Amino acid sequence: MEKHSYHLASYHSPPKVQVSGLNEVIRYLTELTLDAFVEAARNVPYQQIESDLFPGIDLWVRRDDLIDPIISGNKAYKLLYNLIEAREQGKDTIVTCGGAWSNHIHATAAAGQRFGFKTVGIIRGEHPPALSAMLQDAERFGMELRFVSRSEYRRRHEPGFPESIGVDMARSWFVPEGGANQQGAKGVMLLGNVIGETCPVPFDQCWVPCGTGLTLGALAASLPASIELVGVAVLKADKSIATAAAEWGGSKVALQPPILITDGHFGGYGKTSGALEDFQNVAAQQAGLNLDHVYTAKATYSIVRTCSHNRQKDEIGDTPRVLLLHTGGLQGARGLASSKGLGLV
Ligand SMILES: Cc1ncc(COP(=O)(O)O)c(C=O)c1O
Repeated sequence: MEKHSYHLASYHSPPKVQVSGLNEVIRYLTELTLDAFVEAARNVPYQQIESDLFPGIDLWVRRDDLIDPIISGNKAYKLLYNLIEAREQGKDTIVTCGGAWSNHIHATAAAGQRFGFKTVGIIRGEHPPALSAMLQDAERFGMELRFVSRSEYRRRHEPGFPESIGVDMARSWFVPEGGANQQGAKGVMLLGNVIGETCPVPFDQCWVPCGTGLTLGALAASLPASIELVGVAVLKADKSIATAAAEWGGSKVALQPPILITDGHFGGYGKTSGALEDFQNVAAQQAGLNLDHVYTAKATYSIVRTCSHNRQKDEIGDTPRVLLLHTGGLQGARGLASSKGLGLV
């Protein structure tokens, strides 16, 4: 991806950076109630970044990765109403599915342990000779792992899928892959409402990485109309993302569709490049911004590309106030490290 390689030269001279307004106290979600969760969401810090990395914009990051160090980012919001409803219905087990590096599996296993549910993870592919760091965590959190072949896994959206592979659903609540159900969307809408209530400055834009598109759609339905929503597709699936965003966001999305950036995926899901890795390192060192290569780094890099594009056009106007949603996913960064034989990051 040639067009992504431009900025590296400028990274060699250390940018001026000042990080303000962040009190990185580690907080945990300790209670499964709506009130406790809303309070935690309202306390999520907004980090202002003054950095030469992002010229011409006033960049803030809402640090939802800090809502909980393990049940982190948009996963926490997607799980909230699933867990509340499971408990209300007397279910004692959460069943879900995903791949070997799924942030959703990781968060579900941790949430189950924290809030007293058994968890079952249906994992795509045969049992590997060695479990990924994520799957090791999930087992440590008490999740029972069931490996299914890729062909079986393709049936994950069919009704009765867990039963068909022998999972007892009598006292279980099923959460689809990635937390993509009505309850998941309702949780992300809560996030959009909380942003509307808590934003420290009036933002012009809110940027978010997109996988399934549920987060994009639910935010489009719930953010104040004054904030333009921009999604960055992290995989080559812009059509399905737009369709999912419309499905989960409903009529509001049809009226005011979010912008979807489709050329910032670096070759596909989980793919990366030297330019992206360099960018991640600089963002961490110079701006105190830890990003994962699958989701948040790609969204942030797209912001950089847009800054540069605007600067080239030499546009003069008010400095846009841009909010980046840090959707978590930092545990997944270990996937890249392990694929390169590095230690954990
Ligand atoms: C860290 C992170 N950011 C963003 C997303 C994208 O969310 P969605 O699938 O709702 O588009 C995901 C997962 O799906 C994620 O794990």
